[in-house]
Order: sequence, then structure tokens, then C-alpha cells
Amino acid sequence: MVIKRIYLVGFMGSGKSTLGKRLRTEIGWDFLDLDDYFEERYQITIKQYFAEFGEDAFRLAEKELLLDVSQKERIIIATGGGAPCYFNNMQVMNDTGLTIYIKLSVETLAGRLCSARQVRPLVAGKSGTELHQYIEEKLQERDGFYNQAKVIADGEVLGVDGFVRIIKASGELM
Ligand code: S3P
Repeated sequence: MVIKRIYLVGFMGSGKSTLGKRLRTEIGWDFLDLDDYFEERYQITIKQYFAEFGEDAFRLAEKELLLDVSQKERIIIATGGGAPCYFNNMQVMNDTGLTIYIKLSVETLAGRLCSARQVRPLVAGKSGTELHQYIEEKLQERDGFYNQAKVIADGEVLGVDGFVRIIKASGELM
């Protein structure tokens, strides 16, 4: 299989953007963060967009952007945590590239999201206990979508080198 693009999927706080940027250096492709792309395109933060237009409108706009980026080549795309779980987005990604699920435990995600929750509308304002419970429930709901990724990678143990190895073993980079 020739790989034209790589989609990183996983829960909020799973490190999709951090990994994506490091992979950019390792494999020499472009990197795009779908959330940043959204904010640049619409000139509004995702938090403000949720507050003004609601989540349903966000999901529609996110889908359009995903279709747009699925045409780009030699690119690593960090998707928003909810993107794989709406419409046929997972199918679109699987049809057009290598999808990698960065799988992490609830504990690790809660630890990471604790300090970064305020910019994310779905978890902003939650206490530590509420955050933990939210992640647990939401992850259960979303796991079925994330698990449709072609590669399910253990984010607890894999370093960047491990991801590069997995990518190279999955096909030929364009
Ligand atoms: C969301 C995750 C966010 C962002 C939006 C909704 C979600 O992206 O798209 O706040 O539904 O999980 P990150 O996963 O990059 O935080």
C-alpha cells in the first residue's frame, strides 16, 4: 500500500499534535492540526464556536474540513478527538490514508487534560473527579470508532521511533 497521508486519532490530550510535529521532522512530510486549521479558517476559537453555534454545527464544519484535508498529500493530520466519531469520518480517513489510534488509559488522559482542560469546551470547568468520570464514559462511547483505525498503537509505551517503525511497516510512504 502506498501511504499518501497519515491521520492521528485519539481522545483529547492523547498527544496527537505533539506526535504529529515530531513525525513531520522524522519523515519529512507536512503537518496539519485540524483544530488549528479550523480556527484559522473560521477566525474563531473552537471554544467560542461551540458557545455561539453549538456542537452540531461544529461537527458539520469539522467534517467539511476533513474532506478538504483528505485531498492533501504527504501530510500528517492530527484530528480533533471527536472527529472520528461523527458521520462517516472514520471511513473517509481509512479510505484515504493510514489511520493511527494513539491509545491511552483514562488515568494518563486525565493527568494530561487536567492542566489543558480550559481551552477545550467539552471539559472546561470540570473538577478533577468530574473530568475522570467524563473521560471514562466518553472513551467507552468513542472506543468503537477509534478502534476502526488501521493501526492501534499503545501510546503508553511507544516513543516516536516506535511510531515511525509502525508507519514504515504499514506501507510505502509516497
Ligand atoms: C474535541 C476535541 C478537540 C476539539 C474540540 C472537540 C472532542 O480536539 O476538536 O474541542 O470532541 O473530543 P483535541 O482532541 O485536539 O483536543
